[in-house]
Amino acid sequence: MNQAAADSLPALLGEMRVIPVLTVSSVASGLAVCRALKAGGIRGVEITLRTPEALDVIKAVQDQVDDFIVGAGTVKTVNDLRELQSLNIAFAVSPGLTRRLSDRAFELDIPLLPGVATASEVLAGLEAGRTFFKLFPARAVGGLALLKSLAAPFAEVEFCPTGGIGPDDFRDYLALPNVVCVGGSWMVTSELIGSENWGEVERLSRACFD
Ligand code: 3PG
Repeated sequence: MNQAAADSLPALLGEMRVIPVLTVSSVASGLAVCRALKAGGIRGVEITLRTPEALDVIKAVQDQVDDFIVGAGTVKTVNDLRELQSLNIAFAVSPGLTRRLSDRAFELDIPLLPGVATASEVLAGLEAGRTFFKLFPARAVGGLALLKSLAAPFAEVEFCPTGGIGPDDFRDYLALPNVVCVGGSWMVTSELIGSENWGEVERLSRACFD
């Protein structure tokens, strides 16, 4: 079991601070969005495996957008992990946590950010050797209040809340001591992508650092 990949993940994602969660169905859109994110100061992206084109988009962005961190999201199966292994992905994000997925990510040396939504799931994650979790869906399961409540019993745990976070509250999440970074799709919505509004993607990205 390789713990090193998991141990380095909070530092990598902490550097990014805001992680756009991107779902696209064409390589051209994926490249255009990522170039706009980068122009707006965003350091990297989570590309979800929710479309048949996702792996091609990941490869294209890795090859064609320099100095940009590329992770994969919506990783749900061991087969997803296997497909990502050959891509040398920077990180993988799962909406939940199973022992099998967690153990296989260690074996394949893929830095995995598994999702949790309750104290019991944090305990299961700790038993699996993990201390860094996506809180998902963050807003729906209690948001800021839940993160504050989890801080006392789980002082060793760090979170990346994702789900229902937007431009008006992401800073409140980042201000919590147990939050390393936040994820969200507010700067890469399907409407912005559908209308190819790359200028607005860039503007919303830049606003993350105002
Ligand atoms: C997701 O899984 O779609 C992410 O958590 C993003 O959530 P959001 O679209 O609510 O920002």
